[in-house]
Amino acid sequence: MAYETIIVETRGKVGLITLNRPKALNALNSEVLKEVVAAVNGFGANPDIGAMVITGSEKAFAAGADIKEMQAISFVDAYVQDFFVGWEELTRTRKPIIAAVAGYALGGGCELAMMCDFIIAADNAKFGQPEITLGVMPGMGGSQRLTRFVGKSKAMDMCLTGRMMDAAEAERCGLVSRVVPAGELIEEALKAAAKIADFSLPSVMMAKEAVNRAFETTLAEGLRFERRLFHSLFALDDQKEGMAAFAEKRKPNFTNR
Ligand code: CAA
Repeated sequence: MAYETIIVETRGKVGLITLNRPKALNALNSEVLKEVVAAVNGFGANPDIGAMVITGSEKAFAAGADIKEMQAISFVDAYVQDFFVGWEELTRTRKPIIAAVAGYALGGGCELAMMCDFIIAADNAKFGQPEITLGVMPGMGGSQRLTRFVGKSKAMDMCLTGRMMDAAEAERCGLVSRVVPAGELIEEALKAAAKIADFSLPSVMMAKEAVNRAFETTLAEGLRFERRLFHSLFALDDQKEGMAAFAEKRKPNFTNR
């Protein structure tokens, strides 16, 4: 597929997707949605890829859904087309995705980053849900995912005032996993993704599934789910290899794909 709004590359076992609408600060229009979903599904189906990174530019990860595209939409269009539901497709991919965020991650940009499995932020990153300033509210998961990440008080603050939070605050409140200097963002994100991609793919996929289950279920059910997945990993060659390599003081070579 020829992409017009994103750049799609592979770096070893890592799939790299770069949002590329610089003139609109990577605003997310329907073309970006179509292309990002296609790229993620393509990497998901590619046995040579073990993890993905989604990034933007140094100025903007993405400054939100495309306001100019949305401006004229009627209630009927939004409701009947279930506007934005397509982005949920991204969360169905079973391989890990890291969001590498520099600059603005606002509205849909912040929501896209939160759909990824974790966020590595550049020290110039700014997160926000400014939809309220446009007479609307978050529509790609902001009110739900942000609340789970940072708790009610801060999520209310962000969604009701539309203020931005910087990278340090985002790390302090658990929205991002780490903050790195802006110039090292891509390198750090690719390094983390390459590390993940070198591990046993089924173990990685199950670990992702288990952590995500914590958002959907009770603690007792989640713990049982985790244990059953853990038990099933003993069927893998990779479990035998990983533990043998530890005992033999060598690097493991995981082969289950
Ligand atoms: N949609 C469409 N175009 C956008 C955009 C967006 N979300 N954000 C920026 N742009 C465009 C601007 O219109 C401008 O285009 P022109 O040169 O053609 O005028 C270009 O990108 C550069 O933007 P600015 O000149 O505004 O750049 P700045 O550095 O002065 O300001 C900014 C940067 C603070 C991020 C500002 O652009 C801004 O506030 N953007 C909108 C942020 C926002 O409200 N996002 C939420 C969108 S709604 C949403 O996401 C709904 C949802 O829940 C999914």
